[in-house]
Amino acid sequence: MIGRIAKSFKDASGAGLLLVSLAACSTAAQAATYTMYRDAGCGCCLKWADHAEAGLDATVKVENAPNMQTVKDLHGVPVALRSCHTMLVEGYVIEGHVPAEAVEKLLREKPDDVTGIAVPGMPIGSPGMEQQGIKQPYQVIAFGPKGQRVFANYN
Ligand code: CU
Ligand code: CU
Repeated sequence: MIGRIAKSFKDASGAGLLLVSLAACSTAAQAATYTMYRDAGCGCCLKWADHAEAGLDATVKVENAPNMQTVKDLHGVPVALRSCHTMLVEGYVIEGHVPAEAVEKLLREKPDDVTGIAVPGMPIGSPGMEQQGIKQPYQVIAFGPKGQRVFANYN
């Protein structure tokens, strides 16, 4: 019984802490750290990083990784959703050529059942993959412990 009272007290104080951290979040959002891992031999990642910086008004820190598959394994990117670069921001994984507006939506909504969002492969016409105005339709897929779902559609 004492244990139960102690637990509910803990829950109540936890809620208080949550409010405090949410208030702190609004100022922290601007200073979010964007870290992109990429293979040094790949150029489209840098074009995508430029797009992300412009679209998110952010600075993307670029890290060359000797083995990108290890990076993706470490951050739980499903094999079928993999692309070239992998970015980390505020505990989320951004895989591949995801439009900045989809990243912005993720950071605004902050779903707690999502590990990250991905544009699988390298669709022509996605940010950083521009080629003579050609546009392949593609989807942004959210992934996490509960599985995968379509997060955004680009047709
Ligand atoms: Cu790429
Ligand atoms: Cu690339």
